[in-house]
Amino acid sequence: MEKITVQDILALKGKRKITMLTAYDYPLASLIDKAGIDMILVGDSLANVVLGLESTTQVGMQEMIHHAKAVTRAVKHALVVGDMPYDSYQVNPQESVKNARRFITEAKCDCVKLEWFDRCLEVTESIIKSGIAVMGHIGLTPQTADKLGGFKVQGKDAEAAQRLIEQAVALEKLGCFAIVLECVPDKIASIITQKLSIPTIGIGAGVNCDGQVLVSHDMLGLFERYTPKFVKKYVNLSVLIAQAIQDYKKEVEEESFPDKEHSFSIKEEELKKLK
Ligand code: KIV
Repeated sequence: MEKITVQDILALKGKRKITMLTAYDYPLASLIDKAGIDMILVGDSLANVVLGLESTTQVGMQEMIHHAKAVTRAVKHALVVGDMPYDSYQVNPQESVKNARRFITEAKCDCVKLEWFDRCLEVTESIIKSGIAVMGHIGLTPQTADKLGGFKVQGKDAEAAQRLIEQAVALEKLGCFAIVLECVPDKIASIITQKLSIPTIGIGAGVNCDGQVLVSHDMLGLFERYTPKFVKKYVNLSVLIAQAIQDYKKEVEEESFPDKEHSFSIKEEELKKLK
């Protein structure tokens, strides 16, 4: 399978649905890549689902680059998207191009994603002008959720929906190659999807987006602290893992593990020489 490019993602609009999942380490990235998923997002959801932090604003460039490197070591096919952490462009807009470049040169990602904020257009424009492909992210933007009234569906009245449409159009005009729509009513996501010539990737935005993304730890049942309404758990790995750990504990305590199959032997004559 050949490596997917930004051009390939653009060309998929209207042809077939685009798939994207998050990954933060080598083994999961490898499984997702081998399954033929189109894009892998090294999301700042790393903060919540891997590092046990409360907010995505608590991860920085160091953690993101460290995990992105592990992901790109595994990926042969999918387009890898590095998620810019809050302080890399919202706290320090003047540092945004340098930080975006680190995702490409150090971590070997193919492009970056950044969430909407009040200086989003200016920052997005500088990064695109520096030659780096950018995925936008509008609707519920977790890094600034406090300014949006918390973790709530966005664009629920005409005025708010109009704002989202305008943001999407502006990001497309600047040259973004795709836009994540998070927690947006399905009909608004549908209007945005029809208006744009670049793909929309939905998360809690209905079936009419050009593609879908989920946090892997949510859809695999590996994150139990909370589950948003838009998450479908395709498997409950927490239950399977807990059972495996219990089985291991029991077998070690009752001395049925390690058995012959998992032990090494020495010839009797060699053993006798010891005595
Ligand atoms: O960080 C993340 O996982 C994301 C997705 C929710 C789109 O931004």
